[in-house]
Amino acid sequence: MSGKVAIVTGAASPIGMGFATAKRLAEEGTRVVMTDINHAEVAARAAELRSEGHRAIACAHDATDEAAWEEVLRATKAEFGVLDILVNNAAISAINHVVDIPLDEWRRVVDVNSTMAFLGCRMAAREMQATGRGGAIVNVVSIASIVAGEYGGAYCASKGAVQMLTKVLAIETAKQGIRVNSVHPGYTATAMLGDANDEGAFAQTIANIPAGRLGQAAEMASAIAFLASDDAAYCNGSMLVVDGGLTAQ
Ligand SMILES: NC(=O)c1ccc[n+]([C@@H]2O[C@H](COP(=O)([O-])OP(=O)(O)OC[C@H]3O[C@@H](n4cnc5c(N)ncnc54)[C@H](O)[C@@H]3O)[C@@H](O)[C@H]2O)c1
Repeated sequence: MSGKVAIVTGAASPIGMGFATAKRLAEEGTRVVMTDINHAEVAARAAELRSEGHRAIACAHDATDEAAWEEVLRATKAEFGVLDILVNNAAISAINHVVDIPLDEWRRVVDVNSTMAFLGCRMAAREMQATGRGGAIVNVVSIASIVAGEYGGAYCASKGAVQMLTKVLAIETAKQGIRVNSVHPGYTATAMLGDANDEGAFAQTIANIPAGRLGQAAEMASAIAFLASDDAAYCNGSMLVVDGGLTAQ
């Protein structure tokens, strides 16, 4: 991936998958544009990568905002000239029984998790089609698109939408050399999951995971980097589950 240019959304958290992915891609020689709604934090993460000798910039980005995607693309081209890879990673979680989900909560989850992925996919695919360079899009979905979880109505539905968006775009853009794939993390020790050091809170969850532990952000980044790379040249519309065996049961 040396010399490639990637946008990674949701890259603000020091223990999140977005930052882990930006770091992994940068270590592979990719120039990275790191975006997040939390600008101060994502700017600090990009500075961290630059201090390690990598090429990285940060953009303030509400990924539900159509115009903001155009601004991120403009900044990417201004800094690095092209776009080769998009990692749609940003998302929010929500916990509620379906019968208790207020409409505004449902709309917010679908807006951030599904509409964001649509806007990113559309922007990147249009750009990759226009340049004729091809490219790779990786959508970070979840095992929540595959198996139902109690309290997960809005989250599971929003991620299911991204799973199918991935497959449709994959078949629509394959002939132009644009690959679109999804990674499906299981329970991973990031801020989204809560305090992963709270062993009591996760004992039941971990007991159900054949690997006997939570996943790590860097392990998700490895899977994302693989699908973004030419090593995955024949992967298109693929779903890569990274869950320690949880959904194999
Ligand atoms: N942690 C898990 O157990 C787990 C499991 C399966 C899937 N995932 C998925 O992995 C991805 C990464 O999550 P994470 O666990 O690293 O959590 P995280 O909370 O660290 O990362 C999500 C990031 O998205 C950003 N964000 C939220 N709304 C945004 C918006 N409107 N515009 C731009 N950025 C926005 C947040 O500021 C945050 O930095 C998400 O898509 C999540 O759904 C996580």
